[in-house]
Amino acid sequence: MSAHSTYQPRSPFMKWLEARLPIAGLIHSSFVAYPTPRNLNYWWTFGGILSFMLAVQIVTGIVLVMHYTPHADLAFSSVEQIMRDVNYGWLLRYLHSNGASMFFIAVYVHIFRGLYYGSYKAPREVLWILGVIIYLLMMATGFLGYTLPWGQMSFWGATVITNFFSAIPGVGESIVTWLWGGYAVGNPTLQRFFSLHYLLPFVIAGVVVLHIWALHVVGQNNPTGVEPKSSQDTVPFTPYATAKDAFMLVVFCIVYAWFVFYVPNYLGHADNYIEANPGVTPSHIVPEWYYLPFYAILRAIPNKLLGVIALFASILILAFLPWLDTSRVRSAAYRPLYRQFFWVFVAVCLGLGWLGSKPAEGGYVIAARILTAWYFIHFLIIMPLLGLIEKPKPLPNSISEAVLGKSGGAHPSFAAATAASEKRS
Ligand code: HEM
Repeated sequence: MSAHSTYQPRSPFMKWLEARLPIAGLIHSSFVAYPTPRNLNYWWTFGGILSFMLAVQIVTGIVLVMHYTPHADLAFSSVEQIMRDVNYGWLLRYLHSNGASMFFIAVYVHIFRGLYYGSYKAPREVLWILGVIIYLLMMATGFLGYTLPWGQMSFWGATVITNFFSAIPGVGESIVTWLWGGYAVGNPTLQRFFSLHYLLPFVIAGVVVLHIWALHVVGQNNPTGVEPKSSQDTVPFTPYATAKDAFMLVVFCIVYAWFVFYVPNYLGHADNYIEANPGVTPSHIVPEWYYLPFYAILRAIPNKLLGVIALFASILILAFLPWLDTSRVRSAAYRPLYRQFFWVFVAVCLGLGWLGSKPAEGGYVIAARILTAWYFIHFLIIMPLLGLIEKPKPLPNSISEAVLGKSGGAHPSFAAATAASEKRS
């Protein structure tokens, strides 16, 4: 799908450089001439938004580190100092903490877009699996980062989550001691978490390069799920996709700015403004909102080990989706039954998220068990079965036919209006 480079260097310097390192040609063929399906909607702008957010997190993070002290005795006060004494330190910190939430909002939209339009199906399996790896890395990075301010939630969140590894038979306790670097969460834990929190975003950046490379090999999916067949089905990436991406990025940044400037602590937890205290357990330990559905799955299972297995399985199952979905049609736009199950699945995920924020008792646990069961049934039973029993709607022959009508001319409403005006005259 990648366009052959039609880039013609104009200046003598660029000619010289292109003969030695054809980077401008690569950028031109990947982000200018690159043919994109002409019918991409705004849900396709989130990959670009995610790339932007990754850059924002890395840049704000690097500057925060200039003022942060990764030591159990000083971390909490160094963060307070950033907030009060460092010029625009509050802005940096709020951009970074709310940036993590915005990053996850964008990744959830991106993933559910893929689920709706069947973007994980052949030939995009590797692209999708690279996405699942990125998502796992993002979850690890967010968890490690949340411990750094060394507030009560940092400390107790780290304690609860690392403790789950103790469920592994035989070696569990040793693994936890190894993770902690001692017999409790403490300064060695904070230092290794800091080191890994700094490292992982660069690993993510590396996997994103592979993700985009794979994307450029197989080409983008589109709302019809029908592959482009002729040049009529595509438009050049620039200006069409770039303009759309830029518009949505501005809208996204307005929402981001609203969180940063108006409700910067809305998505956080008040207890994290209390310094970590191993002697006082908060009454209610909750992770950040983006982990809540998985937290609900973990606590829904009465056995600790099985809970941890279910938690990891709920993410890893995504990697097998290309083979679990047996339908020959990609897009939910042409799959009437799958479309309904898709929305039920969205509701189940939101429900699990809500339950993850509630105490693990009584009716909440029962509801979490039902929704956890549905989560797995969706992937293991519904997806394979639907492909066999569902009768898809007829697919258009091509993207241009779907967009422009069978005549391949103007949009049907435009064609009708033109015909009516011709009749009048
Ligand atoms: C840092 C995180 C990520 C970045 C920067 C990123 C970047 C991108 C970009 C730029 C695109 C092309 C534009 C678009 O389709 O929106 C894309 C497409 C895609 N991404 Fe990601 N992505 C990330 C995470 C993920 C995750 C977590 C998944 C799935 C688990 C995923 C699955 C896909 C798929 C299947 C496509 C092809 C979509 C299509 O053409 O229909 N990505 N990604």
